Amino acid sequence: MDAMFFSTFSYLLLLTSLFHAASAHSDDQMKSPFEFLQHLQGCHKGNHTGGIRELKRYLEKFGYLNYNQSGHSTIHADDDDFDDLLEFAVKTYQLNYHLNVTGTLDPQTTSKMMRPRCGVADIINGTTRMGFGKKGRNLRGIGSFHTVSHYAFLEGSPRWPASNYHLTYGFLPGTPEAATAPVARAFATWTSVTLFTFSYVEDHEIANIQIGFARGDHGDGAHNSFDGPGGTLAHAFPPTSGLFHYDADEKWAVDPPSGSAAFNVETVALHEIGHLLGLGHSDVEGAIMYSSIAPGTTKGLHADDIQGIKALYNF
Ligand SMILES: *[C@@H]1O[C@H](CO)[C@@H](O)[C@H](O)[C@H]1NC(C)=O
Ligand SMILES: *[C@@H]1O[C@H](CO)[C@@H](O)[C@H](O)[C@H]1NC(C)=O
Ligand SMILES: *[C@@H]1O[C@H](CO)[C@@H](O)[C@H](O)[C@H]1NC(C)=O
Ligand SMILES: *[C@@H]1O[C@H](CO)[C@@H](O)[C@H](O)[C@H]1NC(C)=O
Ligand SMILES: [Zn+2]
Ligand SMILES: [Zn+2]
Repeated sequence: MDAMFFSTFSYLLLLTSLFHAASAHSDDQMKSPFEFLQHLQGCHKGNHTGGIRELKRYLEKFGYLNYNQSGHSTIHADDDDFDDLLEFAVKTYQLNYHLNVTGTLDPQTTSKMMRPRCGVADIINGTTRMGFGKKGRNLRGIGSFHTVSHYAFLEGSPRWPASNYHLTYGFLPGTPEAATAPVARAFATWTSVTLFTFSYVEDHEIANIQIGFARGDHGDGAHNSFDGPGGTLAHAFPPTSGLFHYDADEKWAVDPPSGSAAFNVETVALHEIGHLLGLGHSDVEGAIMYSSIAPGTTKGLHADDIQGIKALYNF
């Protein structure tokens, strides 16, 4: 059964990818949108080289950099200068991902940044750290930083109200049939560790949670655009918006074997449902709420995810 779904599903999505490639991305269809980072290896403060502007866009998108914050000059917001603010952002990224905090784009940092990942920002407003719940920390005293591995909440700790622990979900038109069972299993997994229950409704317009496949700029604002194959894989919005989108340009499969080039529909659903319930990214690599995932990887909930959801809802 699963094998059949796997092949039908891959076939369907391959068809849509090919169609898209023919219409839009004929040159660079297989190149990751994060590929530019490869050429920045070794860069540090003071460098001026093509691609640094893209690094700034990347770090802005994921919450590490904001030239518009009061008190900062925006002179270098859109150029290729590796300035102080960019160095600070790189250090914050390195701290969150347990890398050496050097401010230099060493090979470990670029390879971490190039991994396919969730489109939801790691940190919001530049002052909070991933993995510190809603408290937040800043970078003062980097040298003696005591690192605690931890789940996080989304900005402002949004939650579903206790009157709404039974949620309905529906699929947007065009969702491949084979994706519905793995998504249902992901909901069941969250039910097993929370007070939430989820039920499918045919009419997605009345559902609390709306799930679908979308590509490129799909109506969630330009900075939430998907980016073709690789790069960002999916995203979901905090309570109580209920929006969860897969990037239709990725290769998706039901139960892909290890080594497969396809991403696991159910594993990515588990992660995005975490956002729908109010969890942010965790700095624990084994947690489902870790920001990146390799193709052909199957993951379940980790103790860190369960502690996070229990803390958010006081279960
Ligand atoms: C970065 O700057 C250093 C000097 O500080 C220089 O040696 C290096 O070639 C520069 N790298 C790039 C990619 O421009
Ligand atoms: C910064 O501000 C400018 C002008 O106010 C705006 O066009 C730009 O989108 C802002 N950038 C971010 C990342 O908020
Ligand atoms: C940190 O730096 C040390 C010493 O240079 C190196 O051995 C280690 O591999 C680095 N770790 C990471 C995660 O980059
Ligand atoms: C960022 O912080 C400001 C005030 O510090 C707040 O008004 C704003 O809502 C925050 N942004 C988000 C996305 O939470
Ligand atoms: Zn995420
Ligand atoms: Zn979207």
